[in-house]
Amino acid sequence: MPAARSWASSSTSSSATAADVAAGGRLTSFPIPRERPRANSVDTRSVVSKRAGAFDSSGIRKAFDLAAKLENPINLAIGQPDFAMPAEAREAAKAAIDAGKNGYTPTQGIPALRDRLEAEVRQELGQPGRSLCVTSGSSGALVLALMALIDPGDEVILFEPAFVMYRPLVEFLGGRCIIVDTSPTFRIDVDQVAAAITPRCRVMLLNTPANPTGIVAPEETVRALARLAQQRGVTLISDELYRSYCYDEPFHSPAAHSESVVVIDGFSKSHAMTGWRVGWVHGPKPIIDACTMLQQYTFVCAPQVGQWGAIAALDCSMAGPLAECRRKRDKLMAGLRGLYAFVPPGGAFYLYPEAPGGSGRAFAERAVQEEKLIVVPGSVFGSADTHFRIAYTVTDQMLDRGIAALQRLARSAG
Ligand SMILES: Cc1ncc(COP(=O)(O)O)c(C=O)c1O
Repeated sequence: MPAARSWASSSTSSSATAADVAAGGRLTSFPIPRERPRANSVDTRSVVSKRAGAFDSSGIRKAFDLAAKLENPINLAIGQPDFAMPAEAREAAKAAIDAGKNGYTPTQGIPALRDRLEAEVRQELGQPGRSLCVTSGSSGALVLALMALIDPGDEVILFEPAFVMYRPLVEFLGGRCIIVDTSPTFRIDVDQVAAAITPRCRVMLLNTPANPTGIVAPEETVRALARLAQQRGVTLISDELYRSYCYDEPFHSPAAHSESVVVIDGFSKSHAMTGWRVGWVHGPKPIIDACTMLQQYTFVCAPQVGQWGAIAALDCSMAGPLAECRRKRDKLMAGLRGLYAFVPPGGAFYLYPEAPGGSGRAFAERAVQEEKLIVVPGSVFGSADTHFRIAYTVTDQMLDRGIAALQRLARSAG
């Protein structure tokens, strides 16, 4: 594969999309590749579905593979906490294994966890019509919510740059992504969103604090989006996985302004439990009932041991690790200020600077070649190739090496 392709977007290599085909009256509603990628000597065309063949593997996965090959790389590509899962949660998970709690759980989650999460949601939002289902990570929640809400040909508004999974998930289901570009400020223009809503639009997918930009949407934006979605009969899905990572301002959920918002959340980032696969979705009961039914026929349930760990995690303070994250963000911003152009991120654990030279892909390749530094090019998160993502959840030693490498790269970009 040529070098430039190696950083290609996770999305389709096609020109026609499902919705184009659906619009022509046929129901083949996933992206249709001009040419299918081939894996080794196996002819992909003859083995996998058109749906699977249409997608390239995530650029982030490629960054992982690259890191495994390099000796002592500076890896600022991995979007997961570098602190430990709380000790009490680990103990609870071990106790669950020893107590033989290794089987299936109810589809919607073990009652102790589901009831506790639901009580927290009720305390925050009220909204007695809101219901909750524990899922297999927040990725599972996203899959179920989109399956519950969209049919082939339906439109979904995405704000780019966007989390890598959104576009493929919508397209797997035959949906059509309507992109609202938020560059270069990464602020959402609500009038632009209103203009993008057509009669086929079913869902708007918001992520705050955002991956990859770290931007936290202000209260007036989430309120306006929630109201707009409600007025226009569009379901707003709010991915709040990073809500505990807000450094400068409190987190604002659009669900506080509309009972019809569907919220996605999970323990992966908040409690450093990415491998345990426990998340949840809450929203209007009919939608959550549909998610629960769909989970029964797909994931079955979230892993039981992870759910017991998660209950204990809810009582653990994460203030220490979060303060550390904020300190690392400040250190990184101070190290890059004046050398890179970036919008200061108020949350999550990413910084999203403009790439010197203008191409995120070219910069990411130069960073690997010259400094063994791994960052993720912006082309992975959307159609623009102007930025790159730094994840700063690494040791101070790694972060210092990364800052020094980035400083050299900026100075030699000239
Ligand atoms: C914005 C966002 N949503 C959802 C996920 C999925 O997380 P998980 O399935 O581990 O809960 C991620 C993971 O990086 C993410 O960044």
